[in-house]
Amino acid sequence: TFVVTENCIQCKYTDCVEVCPVDCFYEGPNFLVIHPDECIDCALCEPECPAEAIFSEDELPEGQEQFIEINAELSEVWPNIAEKKDPLPDAEEWDGKSGKLEKLER
Ligand code: SF4
Ligand code: F3S
Repeated sequence: TFVVTENCIQCKYTDCVEVCPVDCFYEGPNFLVIHPDECIDCALCEPECPAEAIFSEDELPEGQEQFIEINAELSEVWPNIAEKKDPLPDAEEWDGKSGKLEKLER
């Protein structure tokens, strides 16, 4: 399973959703998640993210482990997204900032 991690927050570029063959991305106000039971581990989305926020659950950067649970939880409640849309307005400014988890809107 692949996991969307912290650097997506406040950016939400959405390039990832277009390449997913099983449409397993779900959208919140300022973050996307992957449904762990639907992801087929194809890895197509990983290189598409301009914010480099997508990782295999086996290769998560240190400190990002909590996003396994966050993806599992929120993919059950947020609506599906399969078409690319504009990034959030301040995406470039937020890209690479630390401590974005506290900005996550549910
Ligand atoms: Fe979709 Fe493949 Fe990414 Fe899983 S790894 S979310 S199936 S594009
Ligand atoms: Fe987020 Fe990257 Fe997709 S910023 S919306 S995981 S392209």
